[in-house]
Amino acid sequence: MKKQVVLLPGDGIGKEVMESAKLVLNTVATEYGHRFAFHEHAIGGDAIDRYGNPLPDDTLKACQQAEAVLLGSVGGKKWDNLPANKRPEKGLLGIRKQLGLFANLRPIKSFPALEHVSPLKQEVISGSDILIIRELTGGLYFGQPSERRENGQAAVDTLYYQRYEIERIVDKAFQSARKRRKHLTSVDKANVLESSRLWREVVEEKRQQYPDVTVDHLLVDAAAMKLVTSPDQFDVMVTENLFGDILSDEASVLTGSLGMLPSASVRSDGVGLYEPVHGSAPDIAGRGMANPIGMILSAAMMLRHSFNMEEEAAEIESAVNDTLNEGYHTADLNREGGKLVGTAEMTEAVIENITTKSVSDSICSS
Ligand code: NAD
Ligand code: IPM
Ligand code: MN
Repeated sequence: MKKQVVLLPGDGIGKEVMESAKLVLNTVATEYGHRFAFHEHAIGGDAIDRYGNPLPDDTLKACQQAEAVLLGSVGGKKWDNLPANKRPEKGLLGIRKQLGLFANLRPIKSFPALEHVSPLKQEVISGSDILIIRELTGGLYFGQPSERRENGQAAVDTLYYQRYEIERIVDKAFQSARKRRKHLTSVDKANVLESSRLWREVVEEKRQQYPDVTVDHLLVDAAAMKLVTSPDQFDVMVTENLFGDILSDEASVLTGSLGMLPSASVRSDGVGLYEPVHGSAPDIAGRGMANPIGMILSAAMMLRHSFNMEEEAAEIESAVNDTLNEGYHTADLNREGGKLVGTAEMTEAVIENITTKSVSDSICSS
């Protein structure tokens, strides 16, 4: 049976890196005997231009029926002056909310071949392996009242969390920590914010159910500092929506570039939307130079989380690692020497490593 996957390329480099994900998934399909049916739909600025709506009904319906959704990125200067509810970003927030994807998993792992590329010292980042779990359907992004202007003289956004929203994301974080190094850092601003004090209370209650997991609380300002001075002290970090947005872009420097980071936005039953952490990168869009690795690794997360294809996901990840070890890099990685390539060549090199490995596996086993 074909796996039904909805593709939402979106805007800017989202369209470019989505091509890479498709090629990689088609290679996996051939190598492992799977079949994927891709259904492409509009979102963001692209959907505004074509249908006058950043999240057309047809797109939403297709996502609700799909087994998994892959998303590129949305946004761009062209749509920056539209009213708030007509902006491309509303399409992305809408799809996350409508699908109930409350947990955004953002793994950040330094690749040995890129440790000298990061602006941080190699000895600081070496061996870092963090999972940021960002609450995705609550907090400042969705609190009521929101986006309210008072005669142009004041504006309000509301930071609001209900206990059940905190409980489910904290549970997800404990469960993830159990599968990793059993260390959870909850990040908040409990010295100032009431919603953070409720957050901390819930974490303290929940930890009774997970006695095997060590728990720390950290204020978000200190967390931002520690992420770049001693990232190896973190295993799983859990935090509210906006803090998670900011901390994950910051943490991307551990890998050398924002273009490296994948993410999975999931709910309890495993349905997921997979998207790189980066945006539409208007400064480089249309030039074939975007780093496709965040998108390719998001496709690997889709195979693991939505289709239970652990081996295939691991194969993509190891092909990416091999490709970086061979010296391939896109311009954002700011790497000296090696092979400076564009999106298409980087994708080709990753595919080559997927193919080569399974050919050599079959030669070895015959
Ligand atoms: P951005 O993530 O698009 O870009 C930030 C910087 O990182 C830019 O210099 C860009 O060139 C670089 N970069 C990002 N991804 C890269 C990649 N794959 N390869 C090489 N370089 C890469 O953030 P921004 O410039 O602040 O936002 C641009 C637009 O994207 C805005 O409209 C914003 O709302 C939107 N955005 C969308 C998403 C999403 O769809 N998930 C995420 C973030 C920002
Ligand atoms: C992200 C982006 C989005 C967010 C924007 C584009 C709405 O920055 O996915 O990290 O803030 O969630
Ligand atoms: Mn972001």
